[in-house]
Amino acid sequence: LERKNYHSNHRRIRSNSHIRELAATVKLSHKSFIQPLFVDEQVTQPTPITSLAGINSDTQESVLKQIEADLNNGISKFMLFPVPATKHTHEFDYSFVLQTIQSIKQHFGNDVWIAADVCLCAYTSHGHCGILNKTGTTVLNDASVKTLADYSLQLALAGADCIAPSDMMDGRIIAIREQLFAHELDDVSIMSYSAKFASAFYGPFRDACHSSPDKAGMLKDRKTYQLSSFNRNDAIQTALRDIEESADIIMVKPSVLYADIIHELSHSIHQPIAAYHVSGEYQSIELLAANGLTDRAKAHTEIWASLTRSGADIIISYAARNAQQWIHQLEM
Ligand code: PBG
Repeated sequence: LERKNYHSNHRRIRSNSHIRELAATVKLSHKSFIQPLFVDEQVTQPTPITSLAGINSDTQESVLKQIEADLNNGISKFMLFPVPATKHTHEFDYSFVLQTIQSIKQHFGNDVWIAADVCLCAYTSHGHCGILNKTGTTVLNDASVKTLADYSLQLALAGADCIAPSDMMDGRIIAIREQLFAHELDDVSIMSYSAKFASAFYGPFRDACHSSPDKAGMLKDRKTYQLSSFNRNDAIQTALRDIEESADIIMVKPSVLYADIIHELSHSIHQPIAAYHVSGEYQSIELLAANGLTDRAKAHTEIWASLTRSGADIIISYAARNAQQWIHQLEM
């Protein structure tokens, strides 16, 4: 046989959907998805979030119906974002979210897994993720950590399966773990938003939670606590630190924009990595689709494949409740 360049023909592996399916290195499953839920104390019925297409703010009652529908679509893991009616600077009232978790757990028990977001930005009058100093120039680390750890304990006692701190204070993971252990909540996991960047892609979420930093305040953004997009080292170190402090799951957010961080962490840590396709990333797809410029299902599925290729084990997406159907219909 004359030696030709047969091996340089790559189109054979793409030549029909059967061989494309067989050759695929990414196999998606709806079981890897977490669906975020917004529960707003001020709404009296499920209310569409205009900046987040297809997503509602729920009441304590309507969230149960939403979860029921999601369970029927194969989604059993949720992330809960409470929007309290009143905002303060120090003492916060958590009763709304605690009642919500209790009622979800009463209805669904262990058929659902609830991760409770832990942050103060929806609770504070200034919209920052922790407690400010007197002059309003900085977020106080240790005072914030203490408040967040106390809040976490209450969430866990109410029935949360997982605590997901998104505040970005130093030392919060160990502080939360100590509180959990002291109360024999040994099985409550911690999903740390370790690699959470100060991003321009959280806008729709802040709309939904009324949690933008107060533009009239001294501190106008979250750059003194969230990560810089220009600093890879800090993202990796913070994730490693959180693992040392006993985080069970490490999150990277936003996701597509930080696929390099996901990839790097997937080689250096042995904890599950969650990629959070955040509100601005989600809504940019929705806007393209609404304008006839892309197919919603195909675009989201392509992003999920990308995140999985990068090394994400878990995907948090506002479109999670479509995952089972979209993956089932997927044509490779
Ligand atoms: C709270 C929090 C934010 C998000 C999750 N938890 C917003 C922020 O940091 O301002 C963003 C999620 C999204 O945009 O989908 N700190």
